[in-house]
Amino acid sequence: MSDYDTVAEAYDLDNETSLQNAYYERPATLALAGDVTGRRILDAGCGAGPLFAALRERGAVVSGIDVSAGMVERARVAPRCGRRRAGRGRRRPAAVRAREFDDVVASLVLHYLRDWGPALTGFRRVLRTGGRLTASVNHPTAEYVIERMQGRRPDYFAVYSQAGTWPVGDQTVEVTFWNRPLHAMTDAFAAAGFRISSISEPPPLPEARDLFPGEFAHYADAPNFLFFALQAD
Ligand SMILES: C[S@@+](CC[C@H](N)C(=O)[O-])C[C@H]1O[C@@H](n2cnc3c(N)ncnc32)[C@H](O)[C@@H]1O
Repeated sequence: MSDYDTVAEAYDLDNETSLQNAYYERPATLALAGDVTGRRILDAGCGAGPLFAALRERGAVVSGIDVSAGMVERARVAPRCGRRRAGRGRRRPAAVRAREFDDVVASLVLHYLRDWGPALTGFRRVLRTGGRLTASVNHPTAEYVIERMQGRRPDYFAVYSQAGTWPVGDQTVEVTFWNRPLHAMTDAFAAAGFRISSISEPPPLPEARDLFPGEFAHYADAPNFLFFALQAD
């Protein structure tokens, strides 16, 4: 059972309207993805499917995978959306073929993985040459600052785990993030056959300032997420 199974409904509802997702991470990922009309896209770690739905509304043909059966159930996405743990073992959904996709999007999922190698190699395998990977992760300096504020002194240059209780709506979920320095991320992308097109640190959408005045201030002068646009060599 995945941690997200217990909070799937709460996470889905929160994600639809929250500053972090609806006014920050998702619009930034969609902006990086650009014109997706007619593109075949794999949404890796699709969760309850808000990004999946937005990409489909923009004309893409989308498939999604996620380790959480509860999230996939909420997603009610295309029949090929299935339960699958990225980065573990050799098993893969039979329906996913090599070079099947034009794009892979991986929104806020890679930081759940200790080792990015197997997942990125898998993404490269299912992408056509010249295809694109759009990925967002917790910003490494944001997580470093949180650790310091909680009295710990992590080594920024190490890959280190960060376990915590995370509020989701009126529930909580136990999560473990695997933080890593920026250079470890770019090295992992290169090792898997990806070339970086851009690294970006956009702010939340401007309208979030009025909608979430307190929370917005928190993100006004420091990034919470880091975004990558990559090309499969
Ligand atoms: C923060 S949520 C993001 C969901 C979605 N991408 C979005 O932006 O709304 C992280 C998702 O990653 C999934 N996840 C975590 N570890 C995973 C793994 N090893 N393989 C596949 N999915 C995983 C979780 O089940 C959860 O749905």
